[in-house]
Amino acid sequence: MANDIKIISLSSHNALASEICGHLEMPLTQTETIRFGNENMLFTCHENVRESDVFVIQTSCPPVSENIMELLIAIDALKHASARRITAVLPYFPYARSDKKDRPRISITARLMADLLETAGANRVLTMNLHSPQVQGFFRIPVDQLDATPIVCDELRNTSELEDSVLVASDVSEAKDLKAYANRLNAPIAIIDKRRNDDSESPEAVSIIGDVADRNALIIDDEIASGGTMIAAADFLLKHGARRIEAAAVHPVLSGNAYDRLSSSTIERLVVTNTIPIPAEKLASHPIAINTVSVANLFAEAIRAIHTGSSISRLFT
Ligand code: R5P
Repeated sequence: MANDIKIISLSSHNALASEICGHLEMPLTQTETIRFGNENMLFTCHENVRESDVFVIQTSCPPVSENIMELLIAIDALKHASARRITAVLPYFPYARSDKKDRPRISITARLMADLLETAGANRVLTMNLHSPQVQGFFRIPVDQLDATPIVCDELRNTSELEDSVLVASDVSEAKDLKAYANRLNAPIAIIDKRRNDDSESPEAVSIIGDVADRNALIIDDEIASGGTMIAAADFLLKHGARRIEAAAVHPVLSGNAYDRLSSSTIERLVVTNTIPIPAEKLASHPIAINTVSVANLFAEAIRAIHTGSSISRLFT
């Protein structure tokens, strides 16, 4: 790689950033974020970035708002240090679930994130499996959205008994994504009609299109947050005659008491990627089998393509 590329890891996911750098065979750029007593942050880049092509890696995970602020401060610092181009690398895009004004007096936070990133000085965004693809259109700068489906499918093909399996969308809005999984895994599909009547973490599965009786059900979703959606789907599928339940999601948000809820649920195994770090102590203290597949190589290839100006579309298929 040319010398003018710099990869910066902010506070959220050093393990993924280091793995990406490993694939690119280059070191992380030396930086530091100091947190003061008044909760202000000071980001310093300890290397010259003048005229460099800089990639700043920050995923959305707790403390979510603090991580966003650190990202904006870092981009601003790099802009004023005369970086030639700054790409915000967001494996899991923050605040993406609010992408429309579907009730009075609320913010479209995904759009707000786009405005904040552009105002701070980001020239491009590299992300993965947006909650809604139209979030791409909230930006006036280029956004490359990577897709983890092939990586997750490879893992499922290697480790699940796909014969006699049915792929299940936990929600009608997941149906389109499910088609991509079904094409790759050559399996039948079913779609659950999920209702979430309020902002609670207990949605209800009310009906299903498709046959799951006497089949192993594999629930697919873009993210798993509280686990409420997956758990409701699993119970519903068992009631409808499914034999056993596995689940897969790209983003393991796993917020609040999700680990406890999943551990005592009917889901036998969960396959996720490493767009969000999973604390080792959580894994050790909960019996749920969570298999993590790495997206580091895909991000490294995308960074290489962006830097060298070669086509990135081969990574989308
Ligand atoms: C909803 O539209 C998404 O696809 C996921 O189903 C949802 O974000 C999962 O959230 P939770 O795990 O809290 O039910």
